[in-house]
Amino acid sequence: MKNKIVAGNWKMNKNFSEAEELLVSIAESLDDMRLETEIVVCTPSVYLEMAADISEESNFYVGAQNVSYAPKGAYTGEISAEMLKSAGADFCIVGHSERRNYFHETDEELAKKVDLLLENDIVPIFCCGEKLEERQSGNYFQVIDNQIKNALFHLDKEHFDGIILAYEPVWAIGTGLTATPEQAQEVHAHIRRIIEEKYGTEVAYNTYILYGGSCNARNALDLFSCQDVDGGLIGGASLVAEDFIAIVNAAETASKND
Ligand code: 13P
Repeated sequence: MKNKIVAGNWKMNKNFSEAEELLVSIAESLDDMRLETEIVVCTPSVYLEMAADISEESNFYVGAQNVSYAPKGAYTGEISAEMLKSAGADFCIVGHSERRNYFHETDEELAKKVDLLLENDIVPIFCCGEKLEERQSGNYFQVIDNQIKNALFHLDKEHFDGIILAYEPVWAIGTGLTATPEQAQEVHAHIRRIIEEKYGTEVAYNTYILYGGSCNARNALDLFSCQDVDGGLIGGASLVAEDFIAIVNAAETASKND
């Protein structure tokens, strides 16, 4: 049985006291649960230290949502991998479609971010996924292959083994339109296949591939029950403690049914 991972991506939501309240209520709910599932909460960077403090008394990990492609220096407004680590982040989302689309992040920059995260002992959660027109044109495997190969396939086997992938079809993010379990499974199996071709069966099996895109308490169990779906990267539903915990429970059930 492979345990699941459920990661929350808060995006740019919550002020300081709201963030504290949500972290505390997640921690309190988790206190009563004996879990196999690993939980990661990716907060805005300004809340990382607080999240790390609260997580010490609980059983979730803390993640960031972005990192600079440069290690340090004159990059006003940027936050380095070393800073994230020193503030308590053990995970970091990279290449989210919102960053690719609104901030024009390139595969080349994403490859540098991944390298810096690994150097600083932070697990990258690397996002890939096609836009609606790419799905409709039937071109989506090619889009996803390029995203993964261009930003990750320079890594050697040992380093790739530390990466989490998240398949997030852009048309499903924040739209309420979820990929069906069949659609998710098809892409996840394809991703695992290209990892296997490059790094072999063991690495392919060990690599976590999460699904993200309007995943919620109602659809999580069906999605997580797919053979190649190893958990979820949750946006909107991670902003409400009960919803997030219900998704964690779905992950527990799915891995027990495996
Ligand atoms: P939603 O769950 O709000 O669709 O967001 C998914 C996402 O982008 C997680 O990174």
